[in-house]
Amino acid sequence: MLSILVTFLSLSSIHAAPISKDNGTVCYALKSSTADASIFPFLNGQGPHYDYPQSFGIPVEVPDQCTVEHVQMLARHGERYPTASKGKLMIALWDKLKVFQGQFDGPLEIFNDYEFFVSDTKYFDQLTNSSDVDPSNPYMGSKTAEILGKYIAFNYGELFGNYTPVFTSSSGRVYQTAKYAVSALEEELNVQLDLQIIQENETAGANSLTPGDSCVSYNGDLGDEYFENVTLSYLTDIKNRWMKKNSNLNLTLEQDDIELLVDWCAFVTNIKGSSTVCDLFERNDLIAYSYYSDVTNFYGRGLGNPLVKPIGSVLLNASYNLFTQADDLDNKVWLSFSHDTDIQQFVSALGLFDNGVTEYSLEQVEFQDIQKLSWVTPMGGRIFTEKLKCRNSSYVRYIVNDVVIPVPGCTSGPGFSCPIEDFDDYIADRLNGIDYVSSCEIQQVSNITELTFYWDYNEVEYNGPVSNK
Ligand SMILES: *[C@@H]1O[C@H](CO)[C@@H](O)[C@H](O)[C@H]1NC(C)=O
Ligand SMILES: *[C@@H]1O[C@H](CO)[C@@H](O)[C@H](O)[C@H]1NC(C)=O
Ligand SMILES: *[C@@H]1O[C@H](CO)[C@@H](O)[C@H](O)[C@H]1NC(C)=O
Ligand SMILES: *[C@@H]1O[C@H](CO)[C@@H](O)[C@H](O)[C@H]1NC(C)=O
Ligand SMILES: *[C@@H]1O[C@H](CO)[C@@H](O)[C@H](O)[C@H]1NC(C)=O
Ligand SMILES: *[C@@H]1O[C@H](CO)[C@@H](O)[C@H](O)[C@H]1NC(C)=O
Ligand SMILES: *[C@@H]1O[C@H](CO)[C@@H](O)[C@H](O)[C@H]1NC(C)=O
Ligand SMILES: *[C@@H]1O[C@H](CO)[C@@H](O)[C@H](O)[C@H]1NC(C)=O
Repeated sequence: MLSILVTFLSLSSIHAAPISKDNGTVCYALKSSTADASIFPFLNGQGPHYDYPQSFGIPVEVPDQCTVEHVQMLARHGERYPTASKGKLMIALWDKLKVFQGQFDGPLEIFNDYEFFVSDTKYFDQLTNSSDVDPSNPYMGSKTAEILGKYIAFNYGELFGNYTPVFTSSSGRVYQTAKYAVSALEEELNVQLDLQIIQENETAGANSLTPGDSCVSYNGDLGDEYFENVTLSYLTDIKNRWMKKNSNLNLTLEQDDIELLVDWCAFVTNIKGSSTVCDLFERNDLIAYSYYSDVTNFYGRGLGNPLVKPIGSVLLNASYNLFTQADDLDNKVWLSFSHDTDIQQFVSALGLFDNGVTEYSLEQVEFQDIQKLSWVTPMGGRIFTEKLKCRNSSYVRYIVNDVVIPVPGCTSGPGFSCPIEDFDDYIADRLNGIDYVSSCEIQQVSNITELTFYWDYNEVEYNGPVSNK
């Protein structure tokens, strides 16, 4: 099974550069770093952006005889610093390690003359950009956002009108990502875009790009709670390997410390372009880490959590309503920016990776059937919904991190797209019996029970405020 996974990953590098990628052959050619990019898919989405690694080989180019007549995008912010809460844990871990600087032996030697990677805690939560990061870092969040803007311009430029709206949640890093992408689009297409800032606030209820904020009954930590009493043997093995030559040091590494160092590897790569901390891990360590992360995601932000379908249904229903009204709406491009959690909830409600599995092993790594939610939302993760017109019929297809992912059970259209009549049934089935307002008890915090911003942005002012987080 391992060999299958590895085959997927190596296959992906063969078709990693479809013609329509971004006219960013230019941009991607600039990507040079000493980082081993093949580990990015194992970092639980905390590291730099990469293409969805498991492709069926379906060409991303628009199928012959088809044109894109309407497109939607939901994107995560680009590469960033750790959040303040994770950053605090990292500082605490560094305080514990730095006592032994100069004394480490074996793999931990890298810490002997190490400098902590964040110079000021004000950077926590922020997108990385050239003001504070070495500009040669190819994985900077601002660059990823600009490349995304060019990608959109190259593939969907003809659909833009003169005053196309773009929607961002009010989180600082999300807003900045949207701004960088918008600047690139305006420059490429010579148009003016109209940025709408949708409040992240529980009082916003359903009228939000982050509808989980108002879900009173939602426990997003459910995934972590599953592992509360579980000893993960792979973490013990890693600890033993590191401590073998350091048994003289009065240092106790916890399971959490070891997992935190995987995040450390990912975030330093976002900030500096590479990290020696990544070398502490062998490939099999990362495979195990990534599996348990996906299990955590499944129960916290995927279909293993009973509230995720109701939360995700808000953006799914809005997306479907835009899709069905495409012919009547002047605007043909609907770009939205938010967080990984919101995208995972949307994708879960949509069921793009729903395989019916309801339980995953907490004891050992399972290779069959695991939903790789982390592959959907690396930094800069994005999902495009395209409405295709082919001869006289309409079809839908989804492109996740620049790879075509077919709708389960609905692939009879050109390029394995889904015919619109079948898509109607598919969505009706996914939304059947789902009720965000009552399941989430949102009326405890908000009276707003419908998402309207895509329709009323001309009348209502959506202007923030933008938060620092
Ligand atoms: C891609 O961009 C480069 C540099 O901006 C430009 O020279 C080239 O003509 C573009 N190619 C296409 C196919 O648009
Ligand atoms: C770049 O990042 C810094 C630090 O996070 C931030 O203060 C600044 O506003 C950012 N610049 C832009 C143009 O986004
Ligand atoms: C949420 O909105 C309420 C009412 O508009 C406001 O008082 C509050 O400050 C907002 N909270 C945040 C975190 O923005
Ligand atoms: C973990 O153990 C504690 C104490 O025995 C127990 O209360 C809790 O329910 C357990 N958690 C899980 C998820 O089984
Ligand atoms: C080892 O470290 C612990 C925790 O920092 C401390 O309480 C203990 O006194 C130390 N033991 C020795 C022998 O230094
Ligand atoms: C979807 O949106 C329509 C139109 O706003 C609404 O009538 C319907 O109740 C919504 N369905 C769900 C499941 O949210
Ligand atoms: C497509 O639709 C047009 C207008 O409704 C019609 O004249 C034409 O025959 C249709 N073509 C096909 C191949 O169905
Ligand atoms: C919702 O509306 C009702 C009636 O106007 C009001 O009493 C209640 O406080 C509102 N709830 C919230 C959370 O705003």
